[in-house]
Amino acid sequence: MSKNSKPFKIGILTAGGDCPGINAAIRGVGKTAIVKYGMKVIGISDGFAGLIHKEYFELTESHLSGILTLGGTILGTSREKPFKSSGKKKDEMRKPMLIKEHYEQMGLDCLVCIGGNGTMKTAYMLSEEGLNVVGVPKTIDNDIWGTDMTFGFDSAMNIATEAIDRLHSTANSHKRIMVIEIMGHNAGWLALYSGMAGGGDVILIPEIPHDEDVIMDYLQKRAENNKPYSIVVVAEGIKVPDGEESPGRYLARKIQEVTGLETRETVLGYIQRGGSPSPMDRILASRFGAAAANLIAAKDFGRMVAQCNGEITSVRLSETAGRTKLVSKDDPMVRQAREMGTCFGA
Ligand code: F6P
Repeated sequence: MSKNSKPFKIGILTAGGDCPGINAAIRGVGKTAIVKYGMKVIGISDGFAGLIHKEYFELTESHLSGILTLGGTILGTSREKPFKSSGKKKDEMRKPMLIKEHYEQMGLDCLVCIGGNGTMKTAYMLSEEGLNVVGVPKTIDNDIWGTDMTFGFDSAMNIATEAIDRLHSTANSHKRIMVIEIMGHNAGWLALYSGMAGGGDVILIPEIPHDEDVIMDYLQKRAENNKPYSIVVVAEGIKVPDGEESPGRYLARKIQEVTGLETRETVLGYIQRGGSPSPMDRILASRFGAAAANLIAAKDFGRMVAQCNGEITSVRLSETAGRTKLVSKDDPMVRQAREMGTCFGA
C-alpha cells in the first residue's frame, strides 16, 4: 500500500533497443501487481520520453492478455537519455526534473524500468533524485553486469544459430567461405554462443583482439586440408580499420583478397531483435517481471532483478549502473572451443 494506504500505483516503461520478451516482462510485472497486490499499473509510452512528455495510459488486465508471445514492446521504446548533457549548462537537469515532476503529478509510488545498460544507469540516477525505481534487465547482448542472463539473448541466439545453420549448406554447395556478422554491441556473448551452437570455424569477439594474419593462415590451412568451406562468425563490435562500415563486409573482402578463396558475407542485423520470444525468454521475462512486482510490494526500491546461478534475485542499481559484462578471455566456452580447434584470431 502507498503511504496513505491507497493501493500502490506503479509506472512501467521500456527503453533502449527492443528485443523478444519485453511484452512477457510487462505482463509479468502487470499481472503480479494487479492480481497478487491489487496495484494500479500505468504504461508509459516510448521509454523515458513518455515520462518527459506525459504520454501514458492505464494498463488493465485486458491490455496484458495475448502479449506473452508478442515481439517488440506494446509500450514503444526510445533511446532518450534524460541525463545526457545538451551542452547548455542551464538545460543540464531540465529533463530529469520534468521526469520527477511528472512522476509526482501522476501519483506514482514506483517506476519499473525495463531496459539495457543505459536504462539501468538512468534508473539509478533517477533513484538518486528520489524516485522509487526497480530495474528489469533486457537485451539481446546479455552484457548487463549483475545478472547471468537477460531475456532477449536466448531468442537472438536461436535466430543467429538458425542463420548459421543455413549458411553451412550454401557454403558447402559453392565451396565458399561465409562470414556472418552478429549483433552484441561491445560484447561478444551472442557471437560466441551462436558461433558455438552453429559450428563456426572462426569466432571473432571484441574481447579477444584478433590478428588478420592468424585468420588468413587458419582459413588457408583448412582449404589445403580439403575442408570444402568455412564459417566465420564475427561480433559487430570487433575492431576493424576506421571508416569500415561493417566488420562482416570488411573481413569478407579481406579474406577473399588475401586468400583468393571465394567469400561472401551476411550481416544479420535487426532480424536478431524481432519476432516472438523463445520459451526460455518468455519464462525468464515473466519471472523477472513478477520479481519486480514483489520488490515493489516489499518497498525494496533501487534494485535490479537478476538471475544468479539459476535463482531469481536482485542487485543494487548502484552496483550495476554503468558496468558492462564482457566475455573473459578464459571463459570456459572459449577454452573448450579452442580445444576443439576453433580459431579466435589470436
Ligand atoms: O543493444 C541491442 C542492440 O541490438 C545492439 O546489439 C546493437 O548494436 C544496437 O542495439 C543497435 O542499436 P539501434 O537499435 O539503436 O540501431
